[in-house]
Amino acid sequence: MIDLELIKKIAEEAKAEFNKVDSFEKVEDFRIKFLGRKGIVSNLFEQFKEVSKEQKALIGKELNLLKKNLEDQLKLLQKKYPKVKTKEVVEDLTLPGLKPRLGAKHIITQTLNEIKDIFKSFGFVIAEGPEVESDYYNFTALNFPDDHPARDMQDTFFISKDLLLRTHTSPVQIRYMESHTPPVRIIAPGRVFRNEAVSARSHCIFHQVEGLFVDYNVTFAELKGTLSTFAKIFYGKDIAIRFRPSFFPFTEPSAEMDVCCVLCKGKGCRLCKYSGWLEILGCGMVDPNVFRFVNYDPELYTGYAFGMGIERIAMLKYGIDDIRIFYENDIRFLKQFVSL
Ligand code: PHE
Repeated sequence: MIDLELIKKIAEEAKAEFNKVDSFEKVEDFRIKFLGRKGIVSNLFEQFKEVSKEQKALIGKELNLLKKNLEDQLKLLQKKYPKVKTKEVVEDLTLPGLKPRLGAKHIITQTLNEIKDIFKSFGFVIAEGPEVESDYYNFTALNFPDDHPARDMQDTFFISKDLLLRTHTSPVQIRYMESHTPPVRIIAPGRVFRNEAVSARSHCIFHQVEGLFVDYNVTFAELKGTLSTFAKIFYGKDIAIRFRPSFFPFTEPSAEMDVCCVLCKGKGCRLCKYSGWLEILGCGMVDPNVFRFVNYDPELYTGYAFGMGIERIAMLKYGIDDIRIFYENDIRFLKQFVSL
């Protein structure tokens, strides 16, 4: 039966519980136990109906006081241990997944890989050499006379009197022949440097692929056959090509290979300077003097060499009219060549 004693006991019990509360969950336990719909307080009010008339005023007052105290305690606790809001996660498991964005190889890398694959299928292997070269490998052993204008400061970045940034990939020919005996069949891709004003047509850093084939009885016909087959695989089997006489200190005879202008198909346009042809590489039979520098007997061996600029080849293939765009990392440009 409800009496003052019971109310006091409950008040004490609540006080003890109040002190034990240390989390939001326990606040909830406290609320449910004392003030919930079926909690102690509502139970007491239920019993209050049976209290005798004389007692009603006194017990009622105490009961209301108990309820008020408990509500105050609850408020305090709720303030101290608020509900931790967990983020609402709305998941729609039927939605299609998000595709991760994939990176792609740079167009120079893609072009280089294409060139490499073609020459690998001809039996060429990859050789590499340093970007910082000695004057000897870059010039002397390639049969450049001492006073050749290409050694001039205008074209070459010199680091010291004898060290420089290689101006072409041809020094790799020398390094490879020094350490291997014929037959030699290599391609040497890499970066080269020229002390030139940067413009739409030329850059101070670009890439080349060098090729070298040395064996008994290598002929100019083989050079032409190999390079024209390369052009047919790279540009398409109907591409017209031509060889023009040229000069390089390390090849004799020397030539340049042109392909029919990819833009105007030979009719003449701005890209081909109205000639109908585009030059894509330099080539020639290895000069006997070069063989002497690497102790190959020029009476025994012949060979051919070629060198092409990768930027130039990519520009001609994809109709790019400014070499600088390769190095600007403009995502709008790079995205046009996304492939894996
Ligand atoms: N090294 C030459 C250049 O940079 C290209 C070349 C390579 C020509 C091999 C002939 C033979 O222009």
